[in-house]
Amino acid sequence: MSEAIEQLKEAVSFSPENIPLRLHLAEMMIKEHLLNEAAEQYNEVLKRSYGNIKAKKGLASVYYRQKKYSTAVIVFEELFKEEVLSWDEMVLFVRSLVKEESFDEAIEVYKKVLAINPSFVDEELDGMLRSPSAGTFTDSDEFDEEEFFGDFEDEKASKQNFFMEKPDIKFEDVGGMDKVKNEISMKIIQPLKNPDLYKAFGKKIGGGILLYGPPGCGKTYLARATAGEINAGFINIGLHDILDMWMGNSEKNLHAVFEYARKNAPCVVFFDEVDALGASRSDLRQSSMRHVINQFLAELDGVASKNDGILVLAATNAPWSVDSAFRRPGRFDRIVFVAPPDEKGRAEILKQHLKNKPVENIDINALAKSTAEYSGADIQAIVDIATEAKLEESMAKGSLEKITTKDLQKAVKQHRPTTQEWFGTARNYALYANESGLYDDILQYLKINK
Ligand SMILES: Nc1ncnc2c1ncn2[C@@H]1O[C@H](COP(=O)(O)OP(=O)(O)OP(=O)(O)O)[C@@H](O)[C@H]1O
Ligand SMILES: [Mg+2]
Repeated sequence: MSEAIEQLKEAVSFSPENIPLRLHLAEMMIKEHLLNEAAEQYNEVLKRSYGNIKAKKGLASVYYRQKKYSTAVIVFEELFKEEVLSWDEMVLFVRSLVKEESFDEAIEVYKKVLAINPSFVDEELDGMLRSPSAGTFTDSDEFDEEEFFGDFEDEKASKQNFFMEKPDIKFEDVGGMDKVKNEISMKIIQPLKNPDLYKAFGKKIGGGILLYGPPGCGKTYLARATAGEINAGFINIGLHDILDMWMGNSEKNLHAVFEYARKNAPCVVFFDEVDALGASRSDLRQSSMRHVINQFLAELDGVASKNDGILVLAATNAPWSVDSAFRRPGRFDRIVFVAPPDEKGRAEILKQHLKNKPVENIDINALAKSTAEYSGADIQAIVDIATEAKLEESMAKGSLEKITTKDLQKAVKQHRPTTQEWFGTARNYALYANESGLYDDILQYLKINK
């Protein structure tokens, strides 16, 4: 067991209620193939946070890795019904179903994958699930699993599993976050628009911005809006999932991402969960991960030298796991803290989400005041809760009932802010591992003077 895991285990024993910490520990355990231990941690999370989606997803992937396909199917099925699976998680679900020879259901889920990501191609799955004979393939005696799934991995690894979208949101759709918007504008948008000006002033062009902070505070949303702002394409790469899927072929595929981006410039390439690369220093596949990191850095440097209309953004909830090589000049040399929205930001987010809804005299300022520590996603949840209640009421009364301040205040009481758990972990890093003031923003946010 690696030192990192030992340390995390100790930390968890000190704060057993810290859910994000436990989830992080479980993730690390998976990376080191400590599958039973990881399952144990996920179960502990579920005891404390009933129905926790991340824990359920984690468990499903552990079962899959343990080849406990029928159990994996049960968990995946539940998540699928809750509509919380991303398309690549659905691919794992399909694979589990195929293993269980539940072809009809596999076809149904596979269709969903293709609906979400039409460019996803997988010949093996296509052959089995798209052909008219699908569902009749039950002769498991003849079915050489090793061979089938061996090929399957190779096939898939060489396939493209990312694609470009055209976001329809702009900066003005993002409430608050003025400082972060300004950083993005000065560091990557303006250089793209005025390369000569930047050169004249001797400003180096290139590199990206790494956004970090608690979940639901708009990192992904802002990255998408950045693409919308300059009417560019948006390529979203979720590294946790994709590295797993690429297995062994990561470097080639990483290169393919950048090649694809170059062909589709101008575009924003967004690497979500970059900690997936850094956290692997303790990984069993350590040396191969090292190659992936080097490849990634080389591609980033390439963007800098060619300045070919690619904006690189990245995000993480765990900046402390990101390899420090990423922070060198010309790479992710801007590390920007995306804090929970301040009062003004919350007012704007509320307005955004109430736009186009039937409302009546909403006291935005009062609501903004009573939602301190709420994330953008939390505010969205509050509006959803109030909307649903009003919809029910309208149907019962047979008339359109408008949303009021009171409805929203009631929803606020029903929904606790989700950012605090993250700060529980972040606080420790900011206090005890704050090299060169990297996390000063966190300390400032928490009003801690060191
Ligand atoms: N500043 C904002 N303005 C408007 N909506 C926001 C804002 N911040 C968050 N939201 C809403 O909250 C949702 C969740 O935000 P988002 O997915 O970008 O969070 P995140 O920081 O990427 O979280 P995670 O770390 O979990 O990936 C968004 O889809 C958006 O609807
Ligand atoms: Mg996100």
